[in-house]
Amino acid sequence: MKFDFDQPIDRAASDSQKWQKYAGRAILPLWVADMDFAAPPAVLDALHARVAHGVLGYSKPMPSLNEATLAYCARRYGWSVDPAWLVWLPGLVTGLNVAARALGEDGDEVLCATPVYPPFMSSPVNQRRRTVAVPMALEGGRWVMDVTALERAVTPRSRALFLCSPHNPVGRAFSRAELSAIADFCVRHDLVLVSDEIHCDLVLDDLAHVPTATLSPEIAARSITLMAPSKTYNVPGLGCSLAIIPDAKLRAAFARAAAGIVPDANVLGLVACEAAFRHGEPWRQQLLAYLRGNRDVIEQTVARGELPGITLTHIEATYLAWLNIEELKLTSAHAFFEQHGLGFSDGAPFGAAKDTYVRLNFGCTRATLVEALARLKRALAAR
Ligand SMILES: Cc1ncc(COP(=O)(O)O)c(C=O)c1O
Repeated sequence: MKFDFDQPIDRAASDSQKWQKYAGRAILPLWVADMDFAAPPAVLDALHARVAHGVLGYSKPMPSLNEATLAYCARRYGWSVDPAWLVWLPGLVTGLNVAARALGEDGDEVLCATPVYPPFMSSPVNQRRRTVAVPMALEGGRWVMDVTALERAVTPRSRALFLCSPHNPVGRAFSRAELSAIADFCVRHDLVLVSDEIHCDLVLDDLAHVPTATLSPEIAARSITLMAPSKTYNVPGLGCSLAIIPDAKLRAAFARAAAGIVPDANVLGLVACEAAFRHGEPWRQQLLAYLRGNRDVIEQTVARGELPGITLTHIEATYLAWLNIEELKLTSAHAFFEQHGLGFSDGAPFGAAKDTYVRLNFGCTRATLVEALARLKRALAAR
């Protein structure tokens, strides 16, 4: 079956955060990380069937969902997960906050490498921990984790490292060797590794995603892996994600931290998740091909010198392009692009210096992307 990612779907009058932000304004929304595509038909069919049942009571993950999840982890990553390790959650940011709350005490520290998805920095602070942001390094045109800098940043109060793998916003799919270095660092300093792997099924290059918890029994015992069907299968509004926590004590601490404040995963989210994990692969493969095409359009436009003053590193994973705009020397870059009809994410909340980066979400139709790049060229010419 061929899935049509070129089909435009009008989201302007819907409940979309992404589109409502610019309602009534001629600005293309290219910010928050959801895609403008319909979810896979297999997911929509499962949701229709569930709604047709009519009763939408409190949820409890079905045994068949757990089975589908374990089979997915085994098939996709060769990861043998015990059903007892699964903790279903209504969102992945919830998982980051619960993890921060579960680890250590008020004033303890959580390390994260920047730039990074903003809740990595806000979750520890929300939970009365301190965020220690350690810049990543650019080596030979590639973003890498700077383990030497992480070593320097560790203190006796460091409790955890929050890792984004694959990485939002820099688009890296870290290699086994890179992940092993991070895992060793955590073991050496007795840190829990909170590994946000929400983008793990959106690897565009021919690289395998390696869940960090699979690297060794030592790292598995100190890891909280956060995953979700939401990015890959485009169901982020359904509130369903999961933590995989092999260590029983860590799992109990996580459960205690969540008690009374974290609701159950959404009943429709659970249904969507099972359908995506069981039947989503043909759709995912075609999605990846389409996103690869979008990624190539962006990279080739930059390589041809059509966006003077803008650079980017190769995007291995995600549907997010982290555009370096430093050379443009704009003041209020984000507002400047909005004036030219482009609603990017500002780089500053990700930890970038002011007016040095914007993030472009290319989870959109090719036509939207081409229009965005045309606007961007005009914006640069009009400076
Ligand atoms: C790395 C990362 N983690 C978490 C989330 C959000 O997850 P959720 O909507 O389940 O809270 C996003 C969304 O963009 C993300 O990029």
